[in-house]
Amino acid sequence: MSRHYSWVWGYCLWLLGIFTSLVLLGALSRPYFQDGVSDQTSFELPISMRVPSKGPNDPPVLAYYVSGSHGDGKKVLRLLKAIYHPRNQYLLQLDAGSADSERRELALWVQSDTVFRAYGNVNVVGRSYAFNQMGASALAATLQAAALLLKISTDWDWFVTLSASDYPLLAQDDILHAFTFLPRDLNFIDFTRETGWSKRQLINQIIVDPNLYFKKNSAIFYTAEIRTRPDAFRIFGGSPWMILSKAFMEYCVQGWDNLPRKLLMYFTNVAFPLKLYFHTVICNSPEFQNTTVDNNLWYVIWDATTGKPLKLNISDYYKMVSSEAVFARPFREGDPVLYELDKNVLNRPRDGVVPGKWCLDRGMNASIDSSITRKDNCSSWGDINVIEPGLHGLKLGTFFSNLGTERRLRAKHCHSIA
Ligand SMILES: *[C@@H]1O[C@H](CO)[C@@H](O)[C@H](O)[C@H]1NC(C)=O
Ligand SMILES: *[C@@H]1O[C@H](CO)[C@@H](O)[C@H](O)[C@H]1NC(C)=O
Ligand SMILES: *[C@@H]1O[C@H](CO)[C@@H](O)[C@H](O)[C@H]1NC(C)=O
Ligand SMILES: *[C@@H]1O[C@H](CO)[C@@H](O)[C@H](O)[C@H]1NC(C)=O
Repeated sequence: MSRHYSWVWGYCLWLLGIFTSLVLLGALSRPYFQDGVSDQTSFELPISMRVPSKGPNDPPVLAYYVSGSHGDGKKVLRLLKAIYHPRNQYLLQLDAGSADSERRELALWVQSDTVFRAYGNVNVVGRSYAFNQMGASALAATLQAAALLLKISTDWDWFVTLSASDYPLLAQDDILHAFTFLPRDLNFIDFTRETGWSKRQLINQIIVDPNLYFKKNSAIFYTAEIRTRPDAFRIFGGSPWMILSKAFMEYCVQGWDNLPRKLLMYFTNVAFPLKLYFHTVICNSPEFQNTTVDNNLWYVIWDATTGKPLKLNISDYYKMVSSEAVFARPFREGDPVLYELDKNVLNRPRDGVVPGKWCLDRGMNASIDSSITRKDNCSSWGDINVIEPGLHGLKLGTFFSNLGTERRLRAKHCHSIA
């Protein structure tokens, strides 16, 4: 009994040691992320092996922001492993719907993974922020994520927003390959003429998002007030999931033009600003309005009656993987279709990261059967600047070159909704 206790105590002290560093870092107001995940420097690879090279023919660097809420920790970790590549940057955030212990647990999972620690490119937001996808608080969280990612690294090319319910339809080697030959200023935004958005009063109705001033997640409330339609700018909208260029994120976060700030204040009292803000900023800015592609590369099936996306399952598998999308949403936790994607598309071993050219001890020879059974660990590191696309990556590359042609024919993709 006493031996058992002393073991438990030893374990608790060890955990406490790790937690303290994370909690302290999370509690400080200075940018804790700088040393957040990388305080165990002895495990990090030398700089030359983990900093991506950025020549004209090098693959791009993607900056992923993954947000989740209560109970999403495992989903976020699984998604992280499915989209992991040492070149990229990752920022994970669990909102105030989650307990501090969930945030700590997520940070601990990241910290205890040899690969994530070696490359030091995964960061977890340690503080608790309330937000609601329907309100301005979610927009503030997205802008903060972009600001943090800009602070962590200036090497990235595109900002990708994901939630815990998203999943990739291609391996990172394929995605990075396809993006390599694209102009880095393109913004993948979907301007849906979705039912509901045509209803002007939805935009003109004033709402209040209490998450801007409460510590805990709260519901949005609608006021009876209706305001008149703006005439200083036109409103654009579509899907809240997008892939935005670094130049555009810098413009929104730290730009000298006042438009992004003015619109931020205007959309504070509009429902679903994430479906409107970036669309409206980009289409009202002369220097960015020609950079949009009317496709966010997401696979979503909209339910015509409710106007919400349908949960994807195994019956959507073939349509999903043969589409030109890069991500799909939303999935239920542990849905069988995710295992199907892991096995056939990503070649991801259970609990492991997606193999790529950067991980020498698996690579091409890792057969699905043997890799799915062994817990993955990458013990010899390859060159992170070399990628090896599969068939899916080559197909996406062709699709992108067609997109480029189409874009030259039709410079502007903005469709006003109000
Ligand atoms: C955007 O495209 C329009 C129409 O093709 C063109 O007139 C305008 O000069 C372009 N703007 C920029 C900044 O390239
Ligand atoms: C998959 O989703 C569709 C639409 O939501 C539903 O009709 C179908 O029954 C689901 N199939 C399975 C196997 O769950
Ligand atoms: C892959 O398999 C081939 C033939 O079985 C072998 O020659 C090669 O060394 C293997 N490569 C790796 C990286 O294991
Ligand atoms: C990788 O896994 C093998 C077998 O599971 C194990 O023997 C080896 O020590 C692991 N290597 C690292 C670096 O964790």
